[in-house]
Amino acid sequence: MKILTPVLCVAALSVAACAQEKSDVALLRSGAGSTAGLHPQSQPAEGQLPAPRAPRVPAQYNEVPMSRPIVALTFDDGPHPELTPQLLDILRQNGVRATFYVIGRNVAAYPEIARRIVSEGHEIANHTYNHPALTSVGAAGLQRELTSTTQIIEQTTGRRPTNMRPPYGAINDRVRAAILRDHGLDVIMWSCDPLDWKRPGAQVVRQRLVDGAKPGGILLAHDIHPGTIEAVPGVIQDLKAKGYGFATVSQLLALRETKPAQPAQLSAPAAAGEQSAVQ
Ligand code: NI
Repeated sequence: MKILTPVLCVAALSVAACAQEKSDVALLRSGAGSTAGLHPQSQPAEGQLPAPRAPRVPAQYNEVPMSRPIVALTFDDGPHPELTPQLLDILRQNGVRATFYVIGRNVAAYPEIARRIVSEGHEIANHTYNHPALTSVGAAGLQRELTSTTQIIEQTTGRRPTNMRPPYGAINDRVRAAILRDHGLDVIMWSCDPLDWKRPGAQVVRQRLVDGAKPGGILLAHDIHPGTIEAVPGVIQDLKAKGYGFATVSQLLALRETKPAQPAQLSAPAAAGEQSAVQ
């Protein structure tokens, strides 16, 4: 029986880690095979997926509340002229859809790759135009970075992004409020950071991502590092073997499970029992 090692992933700039808990192991084992219908190849187009039960307001997510073994693979900082097409080939061969947090200036440089991302069923999302830390650009800079990126993505691919990821994970209350309120974009962080930008080698990246997977997990990687691309086939193979399915971030959000409504202010003895039962 495999013994899970402690958390392998450490945050880059913000507090991210691969939170692997014992309860996840139980879910993996009991849930194996239950996501057969969720493998992207057999899925309808994104627009045909089940809609959220209630209108959703933009929010920040490090992961998506979910008991089903589904993860989102996400790739930042492309499109890269050589590596992103290689990655797209791998994803296509494996019938997996991912989410690409693209840099606006790279979309302008490689529009045909951005169009390929969308045409092959992946999600394309906003990672700013010049990749600054949004906490240091001021209100006008924040507006410019997000708007110009949404525009170039929409003009190039015909797809308007619905979520974003802040470069370096750099965010604060002011930046978050502007993104959610003024731009209507979800802020998507991650539940597992394999630190692939330090180029630790494909095997290490693979192991960290596989060990860091959890139901509703959002796995961070970058399609600008060769070792990351090299790791992806093994990541997909290992996660499929554990019973995981793959979804784009928007698909994951649409499948999110909300906690049962809390009993509203029940009297003390009854409330204590009921509340513990739903947690
Ligand atoms: Ni980035």
